Amino acid sequence: MLETIQGHLYDFPRYYDLVFGSDWKAELDFLLAAFAKHAGRPVKSLFEPACGTGRLMFRLAKAGYRVAGLDLNERAVKYCNDRLLRHGFRPTAFVADMSDFTLPRPVDAAFNMINSFRHLLDQKSSQAHLRCVADCLKPGGLYLLGLHLTPTTTQPLDEESWSAQRGNLCVNTRLWSTERNLKQRVEHCRMTFDVFTPTRGFRIEDTVRFRTYTRRQALELIRRVESLEIVATYDFAYDVDAPIQVDDATEDVVFVLRKT
Ligand SMILES: C[S@@+](CC[C@H](N)C(=O)[O-])C[C@H]1O[C@@H](n2cnc3c(N)ncnc32)[C@H](O)[C@@H]1O
Repeated sequence: MLETIQGHLYDFPRYYDLVFGSDWKAELDFLLAAFAKHAGRPVKSLFEPACGTGRLMFRLAKAGYRVAGLDLNERAVKYCNDRLLRHGFRPTAFVADMSDFTLPRPVDAAFNMINSFRHLLDQKSSQAHLRCVADCLKPGGLYLLGLHLTPTTTQPLDEESWSAQRGNLCVNTRLWSTERNLKQRVEHCRMTFDVFTPTRGFRIEDTVRFRTYTRRQALELIRRVESLEIVATYDFAYDVDAPIQVDDATEDVVFVLRKT
């Protein structure tokens, strides 16, 4: 039996970065291709609300973009800034709530790729988030927003597990949905992370709540923010040559929103 810690993965940025880091290349390539294809302006400055460890931010900085981000979690922000500094960039991540922020200067594009938006548990904060993002974009600027939808014509996937390794560190992850209340629009998920280092093995047990979105609920929310228009939709295959038509069976979507 592994020693077990009840905690949040977001408080362990090194493990977070490994667990959710492996897809970075596909996401990065997709972001760059989507900026080129859909932005109504040249894209040089970027912002990531809920940036976490900044696994995409520092790579975008290396690719020549001016990047900044925010996150509610101080440890994630510190990890993100330390890494930016290590790579010779300014520590531009800051602690803030993604439903209540402003930027000193508007940016060309923003992104939020893997469900972080669903941490906002009510209509007020999710709408406020979209308005904050819209306000920090230049005209023609983009917001790439990736999230899981609740399909209404098929049974949603309830469990995922995967393994990730970097050097001597290995983390085996299992994530499953324990309750989905579509009336209250909240999904409870349990996650276990089995962490193995050369000297230690232990488990982190985490519980996360997400707001649920059917296709219709997501579209209705976006429509409330007049200055953002949907210009394309993709799925988590991150293929910019393969836009998707979102329907009631769609489980994951990246909305490409453009500031009018
Ligand atoms: C799934 S992680 C994504 C991190 C990063 N965007 C990435 O792609 O790796 C979700 C992040 O959302 C942050 N978060 C949750 N609620 C937030 C809020 N209200 N404002 C800002 N960040 C928030 C968490 O601290 C966590 O770092």
